[in-house]
Amino acid sequence: MKKTIGFIVDVLESDQELSKEDATLLAKAREITSLAYAPYSTFYVGAAALLSNGEIVTGTNQENASFPVGICAEQVTLSAISSLYPHGQAISTMAISYQGKGIKSDHPISPCGVCRQALVEHEVRTKQTIRIILSGLEGEVYIIPDAHSLLPLAFSPDELPSK
Ligand code: THU
Repeated sequence: MKKTIGFIVDVLESDQELSKEDATLLAKAREITSLAYAPYSTFYVGAAALLSNGEIVTGTNQENASFPVGICAEQVTLSAISSLYPHGQAISTMAISYQGKGIKSDHPISPCGVCRQALVEHEVRTKQTIRIILSGLEGEVYIIPDAHSLLPLAFSPDELPSK
């Protein structure tokens, strides 16, 4: 037997095709890229999460002279949310954008593997999927239905004996 595992991405030509709520969230992710602390890579990432209570929490990548210490924007945002809401807070949608010194920010980038694992943990913990909006400062916008689609066959906390 064989099984296909996949998902459908909505590809929009630009932010003009987004709902007002999604456009506002993406605008915040784009805006916050300029506040990232990324002197080493000069690649500035911004994430904006719309919580199920209507609040928006943003985060940026935070680098370090000891490179492995750096944290991605998505994880900074998830950690901020979990610190603000220690008992768990569902996220409806997360928008992610970027800009970089000397590069064009005209296509979507996708969260790294570690961030995908962290996003899946948040989904499992809060029992709510997270829609993901990806775009540069301009150009195409991808809408991914949920974080676990980005990490097929993910290792889940449900596997552990303590769960
Ligand atoms: N980065 C993020 O913040 N999110 C991603 O999804 C990919 C990469 C950051 C990590 C590092 O500070 C810089 O971008 C270059 O890799």
